[in-house]
Amino acid sequence: MSKPSILVTGATGRHGGTGIRIVEILRSQGFFVKAMVRRKDERSLLLEKMGAEVVEADFHNYPSLAQALAGVKQAYFCYPVASGIVEATTNFAAVGRESGLEYVVNNSMGASHPVSPSPLARAQWMSEQILTWAGFDCVHLRGGFFFENILLFSEQSIITQGRIANSFGDNSITWLAAEDMAQVSAKLLSTKNTSFGSVVPITANERIPLAEVVRIFSSVLGKPIQFENLEFDEWRKHLRENPRINPEMIEHLIGLAKLIQRQNAMPLVNTVEQITGKQPILLAEFVQKHRERLLNKIAQVNLATFE
Ligand SMILES: NC(=O)c1ccc[n+]([C@@H]2O[C@H](COP(=O)([O-])OP(=O)(O)OC[C@H]3O[C@@H](n4cnc5c(N)ncnc54)[C@H](OP(=O)(O)O)[C@@H]3O)[C@@H](O)[C@H]2O)c1
Repeated sequence: MSKPSILVTGATGRHGGTGIRIVEILRSQGFFVKAMVRRKDERSLLLEKMGAEVVEADFHNYPSLAQALAGVKQAYFCYPVASGIVEATTNFAAVGRESGLEYVVNNSMGASHPVSPSPLARAQWMSEQILTWAGFDCVHLRGGFFFENILLFSEQSIITQGRIANSFGDNSITWLAAEDMAQVSAKLLSTKNTSFGSVVPITANERIPLAEVVRIFSSVLGKPIQFENLEFDEWRKHLRENPRINPEMIEHLIGLAKLIQRQNAMPLVNTVEQITGKQPILLAEFVQKHRERLLNKIAQVNLATFE
């Protein structure tokens, strides 16, 4: 009989990219890992090189999930910031119940709530309910706003205009590095720990407004970066021009900005340290990691301007 595996879904992500990091951590600790991908490509090859068994499956294709969940007791559930999470979770939970899944670490979100102004945050809350009702031991991780979002929305304007523009105004945001979400998830998956409760907020010890975010970017990059607050419609227009952002994510972000305007920020918690034993990554460290790449791009833009 083969050894039980840990299933990691969302293993090819490019937004937070938590899945591939979890695969890497679990494989480095010698766990058998199944990595779920929608298609085989250069990203699945990378997962294979890490020693994961790659399985092709789609949350919206019920039969495909049986192979992914076969022989699996622990799973990381990760759906992108996109529509369809309630259907996806229902399929996953139904197959998991059939196949003997016991423990789920769910990458939910800080905004998850039945009456959130964000439609996706309401759907994410429903997804949590489905996994719990299915009878698994669940840890729903409600993470702060990923630092990665700053680059997803604003990398281009940082490089070309020295500017970050959105509708978050001067209210504070509770942040988190996606890397820390991965570290926490891997630790929980490897220990099947439920002692932190079924709903666990995960944040960096950092709740700061955009004015402070741009100060940190300016200081680490050694270049002036400004923040500009936009009306919701104006921000929507900018976001629509970004090919990496889907329409549901846009409405989710507007919903988050509304929440933040009501000063409804997540509480600061030290769960990263409690669970992993490591201090959470702060924004300055995150920017430092991207410093060279961003400065190279800024230099290229400056060169092109003078040519
Ligand atoms: N962004 C934030 O600020 C934040 C904060 C806290 C929590 N979260 C939560 O983090 C989660 C996303 O995590 P992440 O950023 O690590 O993910 P990600 O990088 O966006 O990756 C999403 C993964 O899901 C896969 N996927 C998409 N549709 C699928 C389907 N129908 N069936 C199977 N797989 C599918 C993608 O595969 P392809 O490569 O094939 O598309 C990809 O591997 C969300 O649930 C969000 O609520 C986000």
